[in-house]
Order: sequence, then structure tokens, then C-alpha cells
Amino acid sequence: MPLINIIRGETIPVAPLNVRTPVFRLPIWAVVVWETVKALAWLVATYVRHWYVTLPATGLTWLYLAHGWQALAALVCGVTVVATGWAFGHRPSWLRFGWWPILARIRRLVYQRRWMAAMVTAKLSVSYDKRTIIPEIRRVRCRTGCDEVTVRMVTGQIPDDFAKASERLAHTFGVRQVKAIPGPTYATVVLVLMRGDSLHETVEPLPVPARPDFTALPIGVQEDGEEYRLRLFGTQVLIVGATGSGKGSVIWSVVRALAGGVADGLVELWGLDPKGGMELGIGRPLFARFASRDFAEMAAMIEQAASTAQERAARLAGQTRQHIPTPDEPLIVLVIDELANLTAYLTERQLKDRIKAALGIVLTQGRAVGVHVVAAIQDPRKEVLPARGLFPTRIGLRLSEPAEVDMVLGDGMRDRGALCDRIPQTQPGIGYVVLEGDPTPMRVRLTYCDDTTIRDMAHDHGRLRLVNGKATGGAA
Ligand SMILES: Nc1ncnc2c1ncn2[C@@H]1O[C@H](COP(=O)(O)OP(=O)(O)OP(=O)(O)O)[C@@H](O)[C@H]1O
Ligand SMILES: [Mg+2]
Repeated sequence: MPLINIIRGETIPVAPLNVRTPVFRLPIWAVVVWETVKALAWLVATYVRHWYVTLPATGLTWLYLAHGWQALAALVCGVTVVATGWAFGHRPSWLRFGWWPILARIRRLVYQRRWMAAMVTAKLSVSYDKRTIIPEIRRVRCRTGCDEVTVRMVTGQIPDDFAKASERLAHTFGVRQVKAIPGPTYATVVLVLMRGDSLHETVEPLPVPARPDFTALPIGVQEDGEEYRLRLFGTQVLIVGATGSGKGSVIWSVVRALAGGVADGLVELWGLDPKGGMELGIGRPLFARFASRDFAEMAAMIEQAASTAQERAARLAGQTRQHIPTPDEPLIVLVIDELANLTAYLTERQLKDRIKAALGIVLTQGRAVGVHVVAAIQDPRKEVLPARGLFPTRIGLRLSEPAEVDMVLGDGMRDRGALCDRIPQTQPGIGYVVLEGDPTPMRVRLTYCDDTTIRDMAHDHGRLRLVNGKATGGAA
């Protein structure tokens, strides 16, 4: 007998295994009931999911049907009055619990609308097994000047992937800048979308603290609205910026934050101004020691700072890990403008070598024993400043090339948002810094002290007096 397979009257080829899906015949009413149940479930789910729209809409419809349009108008007026009263009465709580949550809902819809296109064009979508998987928006929060969008990354992505695409995302969403920060849990990243520019205006000089806190010297404002405080204890500070970027304003902001200590003798500022006193000369009475023309004198000053650091380090070894300044043993801060003149452009080789050696000692041994350097330079390359790595704290102002950003602030910092090369020339005093415990750079603006402010400060807090343009000794 021939081997054939006949299933439901159909002849099908012979094979070791023949599988056919069974056919069930459902009555039409069952199909209609099933589709209706599905549609209702979808409606309920949508209603619950978008409660912030559906609930008020239901309430308003009920009010209108039950009490007419007058009740509706009265409610709208009531809510407006309460919201206005709240906004004027207690603005922080109004923003936190009233306005920002509403705005976040609206912004979420806006981001959602462009999300797919943004992820695909920024190459943040992943194609796998003929499917395209895109990162998911988890949460949107609004704050002053920025939105924080928490995103669930696709498996295998890292926050730096988003950091690299940040410029593209900024243009896609029409914001000034996007920063990518590792999220609260693994596999999430927080995109901070900066809207306005809180650093647009020049920052006025801050009041001089009577007793400086060497761990937090107020010298400017941060993009998030906080005061930017510089830690001086335990570090050395390098300011890098192209010409006209505002290096002088960083120096004077630091000096201003220390001026209260100068008056008490807790702080000794040593000024080295190789540009002939152009920058620091105006505040001469604040400086216990000052050199502006004689490079040999500058070398001697740095050598003296080095020997002070070595002597203090030897004496304090095993006793303390942080020297506490006193009038007998003050905090010494070498303020150096245009450091490259001492380390690179000096033609006298012997002098240059002396300066480099002494500076190396101050930078490595001085930071725990109260001998600090605050130096400004235009060019961060190793040929110009071999000791760049010895400055743990660096402030990057406007720079001429993108490659310089990572040299100044550390590897990957430009990708993470430190766009020093994009700072416009019209905004001197703006720069990027890396804050403790924050993997992404912070945009800051330093305070601007004009000549009159510096003169007044030197007069009020300097320990010297200017007589015929020359500083004379003695405490003020
Ligand atoms: N923080 C600031 N806010 C506003 N304007 C500033 C600020 N800092 C500097 N400026 C303006 O920019 C000009 C140049 O600043 P500054 O002399 O400090 O730059 P610089 O980096 O030291 O330049 P150079 O390399 O030529 O010495 C100042 O004259 C001032 O008008
Ligand atoms: Mg300068």
C-alpha cells in the first residue's frame, strides 16, 4: 500500500513528522465578547496610566454636567487664585510641588515625541536580531534652568556613550548643552538638558570673608546656582585660559577670598608677575613679597618657598597630616601670573632649571604644609609646563583647541561636557572645573574684581602701604 498522508481530506507529502495546527471554530458572539473585553481593558489601562489628565477631565466633565458652566468658571478662578497665592507666598514649595511636576509632564511628552529619532540619529539605538532597541525614558524632572531625564540604557551601553553624543542631543532637543551623568541605579543614565544660561551676567565680587575657610573659598558661581567654592588645603591650583579669557579674574577672586587672612597675618601672599607687574601690581599692598621684573628674584622666592615646605614637612612628619596656619607660621600662597614665562620662555637656562626644580618641590611637598601655588598659564602643553600633572586642581577657562580640554581637566572631560573651546570671547571669566565626587565637569563663572575693587581691597586688607607707588613695610 502506498504511503500517503491524508489529513482532513488533503493529501500532503510524506515526511517523518507532519504537524498541523488544530482548527477551532468559535461562535461569532464569543469573538465579539473577547474583542470588547480587550478594548475595555485597554481603555481602563489608558485611563489609569494617564490619570493626571483623565482624572481632572472626568472631574471637570462631572462638574459641568451636574452644576453648569458657572461652577466650572468658579473652580478655574479658585485654582488660579490659590496657585498665584502659593507662587508668591512660598515660591520654593510652589516650584517643587506645584509648577515643576506639571512642567515635567509636559516636557516628557515633548521629549517622547522626538525620542526615537534622537536615539537613532545619535546612534544610541541598538539593532539586534532584526529588531531596533532604543533606550527608554524613565523619569523627567524639571529644575531651575535644566531638565533631568533619567534613561534606562540598552544592555551593553554605558553613560559615556551618551556623553559622546551629548552635542547631537543638545541640538536635537534645542537646548544649550546636555550632560550625561551615571544614574541612580545601574543601567540608567541621567541626561541633564541645560536650557537657559544662568552665567550670562558678570558676577559681582563676593564679600571678603573675615576668616577664610581654606577648604571652601567662595570665588564664583556654578551653573546650578550654587556658590563655587575652591578647596585650597591639600591642593595646588592651575588656571589655564587663552589670552583675555579671564585668568586675572580667577587670581583676584582667590586673593579676595583670602584677603581677610592677609590682614590677620594668617595668610602670606607672594606675588610673581613676570609680565612686569601688569596684573598683580595694582594690589601690591596685599603681597608680603613681590617680584615683577627680576627673574633671579623670582627664582629665589620659589626656592625659599621650597625650603619652607621642606622644613615644615620634616618638622610636622608624624604629627599631623594638615598644617594649620597661624600668624607665626602662615599659609603661604605663591600667586604666579603667566607661569610659562618662568618655565618655558626664559632664555637663561640655569635660572629656568632652578625655577623648575624649586617649583617641583613646592608642588609636591607644599600642599599639606601650607605652601600653595595658584598659577595662571595660557598654554597647557607639557613642553610649556612639564609639571602640569602636579597641580591637582585645575580651572579651564576659554581654550583655543578642543584637545587642550582633556589636557587641562582630565581624559574624557570634553566628552562629558567641558566645552572650554566653545566659550565665546564675549564671556570672559567662564570656565569648567571638576568638583570633588562629581564625575562630570561643572560650568562656573568667576567673580570679576575691577581695578577700583582691587585697590579698595588692597587698602582695606593689605599689610603694606603704597607711598609714591612703592610699597612700604609694616603692618597696616
Ligand atoms: N569674571 C569676569 N567676568 C566678566 N568679565 C571679565 C571677567 N574676567 C575678565 N573679564 C574681562 O575680560 C578682560 C580680560 O580679562 P583678564 O585680563 O583677566 O584675562 P587674562 O586671561 O588674564 O588675559 P591675558 O592672557 O591677556 O592676561 C578683562 O579686562 C575684563 O574686562
Ligand atoms: Mg592676565
